[in-house]
Amino acid sequence: MRATAAAAFSLLTCSCLRSTSPTRLPSSSLRLPLRRGPLAAMSTAASFRPEAARSPPAVQPPAPPLSKVFKVALCQLSVTADKARNIARAREAIEAAAAGGAKLVLLPEIWNGPYSNDSFPEYAEDIEAGGDAAPSFSMMSEVARSLQITLVGGSISERSGNKLYNTCCVFGSDGELKGKHRKIHLFDIDIPGKITFKESKTLTAGQDLTVVETDVGRIGIGICYDIRFQELAMLYAARGAHLLCYPGAFNMTTGPLHWELLQRARAADNQLFVATCAPARDTSAGYIAWGHSTLVGPFGEVIATAEHEETTIMAEIDYSLIDQRRQFLPLQYQRRGDLYQLVDVQRSGSDE
Ligand SMILES: *[C@@H]1O[C@H](CO)[C@@H](O)[C@H](O)[C@H]1NC(C)=O
Ligand SMILES: *[C@@H]1O[C@H](CO)[C@@H](O)[C@H](O)[C@H]1NC(C)=O
Repeated sequence: MRATAAAAFSLLTCSCLRSTSPTRLPSSSLRLPLRRGPLAAMSTAASFRPEAARSPPAVQPPAPPLSKVFKVALCQLSVTADKARNIARAREAIEAAAAGGAKLVLLPEIWNGPYSNDSFPEYAEDIEAGGDAAPSFSMMSEVARSLQITLVGGSISERSGNKLYNTCCVFGSDGELKGKHRKIHLFDIDIPGKITFKESKTLTAGQDLTVVETDVGRIGIGICYDIRFQELAMLYAARGAHLLCYPGAFNMTTGPLHWELLQRARAADNQLFVATCAPARDTSAGYIAWGHSTLVGPFGEVIATAEHEETTIMAEIDYSLIDQRRQFLPLQYQRRGDLYQLVDVQRSGSDE
């Protein structure tokens, strides 16, 4: 084992030494180490350039919002083929959460109908048209306003022109749509003879990162498969997010292996809160979800989690823990900007 690891490491080092010129990156990504010469390997603490570890430089997280400590609710809903029932059920769960003191409520990925390629078009809503064309959307906006909560509305399929997206809407406590994330990494899997599930057959991938300013902090949004891409979480952290929210329905293979692992990794790497919300498990469904909605703190600690049945988890978020963790473990000052960089392509390209 050790010998293999060492061999792999030296291979990696060699290929790094060969890459001499910076390349233009097609999308947000980690830039590979660019070494100017063999001596670079001997750099000392004095040559660390943490300020150059991110391009453009990280945005300072805003001072934590007024209510630094607040309750969050993760509504792990059971989802059926009956859309009106799903909407009524979601509303009840949100109302109960708000009655229990939640200031932020999360819903699951695809909560208004079954998670299947055939159902996406059938349950899709025209969010821009609103009203009757978007009953799930309208309910979320109305309930956020009447209960004065921030609502991260899981996701629903969104119809826009002739395209469909897997979309998460975030509503402020005034009921206004504060941000909308269209899943940027679609779940495509094709193992011949075993499993084929291609979201990209019916859905279009979003083109934007989504960080939303709310009454309960700056929130970065990803949907399900998006959680696998650590660069996205790192960019959200570099844009000053306090909390990452991932509505997501992992399956029965990847759920037990990866779901909690990925959440804890995203939280520990970036020293912020991560909240996920899954649908409850329905073993008769075409796609069987793992469930296990979870809240993770900035030290990678699981604060609250569920099993697979329908339930609402209530937990407390205390943003002062972020600063505390970052003081004890000052990763932001220890990055080796002279060896590698995180490039936020969208921010670099704008005047922000
Ligand atoms: C949905 O997937 C099934 C197989 O999983 C396939 O037979 C069907 O054609 C797909 N439907 C669409 C609209 O892509
Ligand atoms: C779940 O998805 C993974 C790929 O992400 C796949 O390998 C596995 O077969 C799937 N399992 C089930 C039970 O669908």
